[in-house]
Amino acid sequence: MKGTFPINKFRELETPFYYYDTQVLRDTLAAVNREVAKYEKFVVHYAVKANANHKVLSIIREGGLGADCVSGGEIRAAIKAGVPSNKIVFAGVGKSDWEINLGLDHNIFCFNVESIPELEVINELAAAKGKIANVAFRINPNVGAHTHKNITTGLAENKFGISLEDMDNVIDVALTMQNVKFVGIHFHIGSQILDMGDFVALCNRVNELQEKLYARQIIVEHINVGGGLGIDYAHPNRQPIPDFAAYFATYAQHLKLRPQQTLHFELGRAITGQCGSLISKVLYVKQGTNKQFAILDAGMTDLIRPALYQAYHKIENITSEEPMEAYDVVGPICESSDVFGKAIDLNKVYRGDLIALRSAGAYGEIMASGYNCREIPKAYTSDELV
Ligand code: LLP
Repeated sequence: MKGTFPINKFRELETPFYYYDTQVLRDTLAAVNREVAKYEKFVVHYAVKANANHKVLSIIREGGLGADCVSGGEIRAAIKAGVPSNKIVFAGVGKSDWEINLGLDHNIFCFNVESIPELEVINELAAAKGKIANVAFRINPNVGAHTHKNITTGLAENKFGISLEDMDNVIDVALTMQNVKFVGIHFHIGSQILDMGDFVALCNRVNELQEKLYARQIIVEHINVGGGLGIDYAHPNRQPIPDFAAYFATYAQHLKLRPQQTLHFELGRAITGQCGSLISKVLYVKQGTNKQFAILDAGMTDLIRPALYQAYHKIENITSEEPMEAYDVVGPICESSDVFGKAIDLNKVYRGDLIALRSAGAYGEIMASGYNCREIPKAYTSDELV
């Protein structure tokens, strides 16, 4: 089964480009909201890093999600899309002074802090403005995740967060400061996680930590468990919407939330991943010694995930129904890693055919680069191409 696309409209456009199916995005948001509504104290933020396209962000804002930002640029993108600043959280291991000031000027909801030096700077900059900044501490829970090594973040060896042993000390320091208010704890164990057991492990760790805090008579108002829910890259048509029911139920069942606490989520890929495709044109079909290559006009500069993480994206020839043949599907960039897939079965390919690289709505367009002096691909939504 292939995806459905407005092929005639596509033929009028210059390739490569990103295409966002707004119906899939809206259905995904509706599914999130339906599941979250079952739990009174759950709040979902969208991790802007996955896709900051203005039209996509605006639809997500209409869906009522807050924004999890990791740079001043992302804060600006969220605000431009209309996300209220009291629904913006600002995370990241290295925040510049101007970015912290931007957050302070907008009175964002919370800074997720990853070290004492950062806490000191936030305190100082907030003092200069006569403000008090809400801070949450990102704790490295030392929980592994069954995912690619480059996208696991919650192990002790990763650069992220404050170690469990240092947590008490950091809290002590924060409590002495006048211009920061300690309101929460934050975690994130990794990305593209499909094994709910990994999230259960996080819940268990959070529960342990809560006990330790409770022993100090501390009950934080906000617990943020980050994002990480994966999508079905193999079956974007059959399973366009992730299993939000299982995801939220896992937290409801395993994380002991106290009555005064709110549980925050920061989902990126699960929100936007399946609504996007990279649409590309076949430049040449080249016969190799033992194989044939479909050479596309899109490359790793447009979608870097296969080159960087050996990630799988389903590839479809959307303009042919001819019998299947196997191709190595490659881009035009001068790098051997510029390969989208090897021995991929596609309906027989001719020069000029349109190829869809599916499930590219998260970490696709936003990670595009100008290497080889290439243009960043344009993006269109299904709303625009009717
Ligand atoms: N919160 C924090 C603190 C994060 O670091 C991330 C992602 C998220 C939330 C959102 O995670 P998601 O729900 O999207 O899994 N470029 C990689 C993924 C990097 C993820 C980085 N952090 C990829 O293309 O797979």
